[in-house]
Amino acid sequence: MTEAILLVGGKGTRLRPMTVHTPKPMVPAAGVPFLTHQLARARAAGVEHIVLATSYLAEVFEPYFGDGSSLGLHIEYVTEREPLGTGGAIRNVASRLRSGPDEPVLIFNGDILTGLDIPALVDTHETSGADVSLHLTRVEDPRAFGLVPTDPTGRVTAFLEKPQTPEEIVTDQINAGAYVFRRSVIDTIPTGRPVSVERETFPELLATGAHLQGMVDSTYWLDLGTPQAFVRGSADLVLGRAPSPAVPGRRGDRLVLAGATVAEDAKLTGGTVIGTGATVAEGARIDGSVVLDGALVEAGAVVTDSLIGAGARVGARTVLHGAVIGDGARVGADNELRDGVRVWCGARLPDGAVRFSSDQ
Ligand code: GDD
Ligand code: MG
Repeated sequence: MTEAILLVGGKGTRLRPMTVHTPKPMVPAAGVPFLTHQLARARAAGVEHIVLATSYLAEVFEPYFGDGSSLGLHIEYVTEREPLGTGGAIRNVASRLRSGPDEPVLIFNGDILTGLDIPALVDTHETSGADVSLHLTRVEDPRAFGLVPTDPTGRVTAFLEKPQTPEEIVTDQINAGAYVFRRSVIDTIPTGRPVSVERETFPELLATGAHLQGMVDSTYWLDLGTPQAFVRGSADLVLGRAPSPAVPGRRGDRLVLAGATVAEDAKLTGGTVIGTGATVAEGARIDGSVVLDGALVEAGAVVTDSLIGAGARVGARTVLHGAVIGDGARVGADNELRDGVRVWCGARLPDGAVRFSSDQ
């Protein structure tokens, strides 16, 4: 297997401010656009040719990754005029593939951080003789995912995308968003209209007796689809829990990028990343968080499991816990923001405006 398709499109996200919504593939995780981790892992597994299937923000990928040679890859870009869905996006790039009809093609969702053993998935595919092989992982609450029950040999028996009723929750095995397709199966997806690989292609393949094989691999796996998950993923990359050849520098408690300024007595722990040109003032404590480029964390602020957007300011002694501060937002001194709160990009919060305790 030497080529892969990476899915990085989708509906209606183009105009949304970056940090307060679904993180975009170019938001830096552990110092590099998070797509880099998947690209580097694919390369390490022997992939040489990658087609990036996108429907938005295409213009940001190419200037950064170019022809892929800096990663040892050959990258091509295909932009859909209207989002074609996951299956439509795969079909839409078929003409760019070089593999023969029986050869395996790796396909993966662009919003996943994973330690998947890619060669093992390819191996499973080849030894089982499957038409499509899927990486499966187990999660506590499978409702936001594609459920994939298998028989004792690992053969997929059904594919239930985003189950709605308790009766539909028949397994805790979910589609982890990485597949190996036999090349010729890609050519059977209809052209010229949106197709969901999860809602249409997989169920139809199963109905017509095709062989779908599941490989349950309980390695590191995280869907980065929310800012909170993104913060977790970034910290795990820095700590070395999520394996990636693309993390700059050594693994450890913190990653301070070139051009950041951190006061000597500031404490950075739990895989915190401080972006280029960001400043952390005296006595600030930042744990398991992402501080993007040019942001300012003032003296004595206490930041935990939070995302601070590019150019944002967090005032002195302010406490952030599981908070998302949008790009360019200003949070005054002595605020206390917790539990999934999102301060919109560019918003202003005065000193002492939000607190959870009544005593100050
Ligand atoms: N090019 C292109 N065009 N890409 C698309 C399109 C499209 O129209 N729609 C979605 N994608 C890409 C997304 O950018 C993402 O990388 C991937 O396909 C999956 O789409 P999501 O919208 O993130 O789907 P999801 O997270 O709700 O569910 C998917 O991922 C789960 C695992 O995280 C499904 O594959 C589930 O079955 C799976 O469990
Ligand atoms: Mg997703």
